[in-house]
Amino acid sequence: MHHDRSRFLIDWDARDEQIRPAPETVDFDRVVEEAISRRGFLGGVIAFGSGAAAMGLLGTTSAQAQTVSRFGFTPIPIATDFEVHVPEGYTHQVLLRWGDPLFSDAPAFDHATGGTAESTRRAVGDNTDGMEMFTIGEHQVLCVNHEYTNLDTLLPETAARLAAEAEAKAAAATTEEERAAALDYRILPASAEEVAKAQAVQGVSVVELAEGPDGWAIVVDSPFNRRIDHNTPMRLSGPAAGHELLRTEADPEGLNVLGTLNNCGSGRTPWGTYLTCEENFNGYFGSSDPDLTLPEGFDRYGIGTSSGYGYEMFDPRFDIAKNPNEPNRHGYVVEIDPSKPDSVPVKRTALGRIKHENAALVIARDGRVVVYLGDDERGEFLYKYVSRDPYVPGGNTDTLLDEGQLYVARFDPDGTGTWLALTPEATGMDRALIHIWTRQAASAVGATTMDRPEWVAVNPLAAEAYCCLTNNSRRKPGATNRGGDPMEAVENSPNPRDENLYGQIVRWYPDGQDHAAEGFTWDLYVMAGNPEVHPDSPYAGSPNVTPGNMFNSPDGMMFDSKGLVWIQTDGEDSNEGDYAGMGNNQMLVGDPATGEIARFLTGPNGCEVTGMAFSADRRTIFAGIQHPGGHWPDGHGLPRSAIVAIKRADNAVIA
Ligand code: FEO
Ligand code: CA
Ligand code: CA
Repeated sequence: MHHDRSRFLIDWDARDEQIRPAPETVDFDRVVEEAISRRGFLGGVIAFGSGAAAMGLLGTTSAQAQTVSRFGFTPIPIATDFEVHVPEGYTHQVLLRWGDPLFSDAPAFDHATGGTAESTRRAVGDNTDGMEMFTIGEHQVLCVNHEYTNLDTLLPETAARLAAEAEAKAAAATTEEERAAALDYRILPASAEEVAKAQAVQGVSVVELAEGPDGWAIVVDSPFNRRIDHNTPMRLSGPAAGHELLRTEADPEGLNVLGTLNNCGSGRTPWGTYLTCEENFNGYFGSSDPDLTLPEGFDRYGIGTSSGYGYEMFDPRFDIAKNPNEPNRHGYVVEIDPSKPDSVPVKRTALGRIKHENAALVIARDGRVVVYLGDDERGEFLYKYVSRDPYVPGGNTDTLLDEGQLYVARFDPDGTGTWLALTPEATGMDRALIHIWTRQAASAVGATTMDRPEWVAVNPLAAEAYCCLTNNSRRKPGATNRGGDPMEAVENSPNPRDENLYGQIVRWYPDGQDHAAEGFTWDLYVMAGNPEVHPDSPYAGSPNVTPGNMFNSPDGMMFDSKGLVWIQTDGEDSNEGDYAGMGNNQMLVGDPATGEIARFLTGPNGCEVTGMAFSADRRTIFAGIQHPGGHWPDGHGLPRSAIVAIKRADNAVIA
């Protein structure tokens, strides 16, 4: 017998929700009222702004899509298998996988054990996510996040032992209840060595890549190759650095921290550095004292006494009963210089402490640095940072991500919006605390609760930015986020559907075409939905969603140099019920000008598709396949998260 892997094969966001579900209050009367008022939904309450209408979004049909496509490929059908599929005329190869050696002193990946802590430190990490390609001299150096790890694949021996024990217990059970209880077990590390391995397999890889006659490959032993993990020394900078809430026994100054946690989306600066974003950092902390009273501020971030990884059993740094300030040192955007393998990564607290998805950086008209930042949790907010000083190419960039102002978005139903400055005056909090308890500061100024902001992407050819609002099953009348802010559907808002299964992409146009401006207008680029299962309902999605391009849960998003937007999904891939006809998670391309969306790639069942980069010559797309199911990509043994390199068969420029 084999234990059922499927319940472990969920993304980290979903697992976090299982471990610590957000509070929910529902007033039944208002649910009924809302359901009645929803009848008018398609009569104009979907907030497609005038910009979208003028550009033909509302009128886009699949027939038009075929005639006006700028895509250069024939869209592909859904898939439900355990393979990667790309359009005809394109090829793909598996480039790097969890456990592939970065250095020649590391052993080849061992499917029986998943490697040791020591071998893991010298190899590609697990669950690739955000990535950015840097050209350093003649070298192409990829920085890629390793967001989390699935302990059942990371620790196959422990997983097999626990499964056998559970099955023996279940076999001996006398009632169905006892049997179910025996099978409801969790996989956790069984030793300090296993904790060390879990800590080493997450973080970031910096890896030089080169293309030869046989395709792309890792440049083993490149001086740029580097692993950054949960124990790498880093510096804290910005408004929260040195604050008493960031001081620990090991770091009495609150300036030096070990490790970066749950590295989700990415970003890059024009001065050649990589930004890695700490998302569900809360899940790594637990308490040896189950009755511990939680310190102030913990609940809003979902930090509790029970962790997802059991680190606290073997590493006291992650035990909040012993080190209550350690969690305050995580939840930031971290800057890494890939050109200097010995450089110390810097946690930039000025960009706020939230469950950071990615960091979309754009230079404003006057040269100031603007960074858009999503906080991926139900009912949390969308943020923006604006530097005090302009970026001067070749000038000093050390303080550009330290000295600036953080804002949070309020979206109004008239199609306008405002970036609300998180100042001491507006929030009643001092500057350091605003950057430690950023969520609380944003609640204080009346920000708009969003349907889980995932990646933000900025169009390089037009003054507009997009954010994936992946889904929000808990949006309904009476519901709130963890801070008590209302989380019900609002007509003519970016979050117009209760029980939002499918997600949407909101887009905003900064006033004066200036990303540093405090005002903007907005519309929805797409509302995902299922026009076959839910015709004539808000859950059918917007008109640019058709039976031929259906998807759910948009998450990763990047623009290419032609101004097309690439959308990656992290959704339900059962292909049943509400999700019938959507198939496996996928990557699609959207044309902002026409609204057209076409499917470009499908991933293996069980995976999410996340993270994308282009080669310097733009003839290759690198795309990440996270937590695949089956035995992908090796066809045997453990499934391994991997990056695929996609090319046109004629080697033409793609994007
Ligand atoms: Fe790591 Fe919200 O995705
Ligand atoms: Ca994501
Ligand atoms: Ca997601």
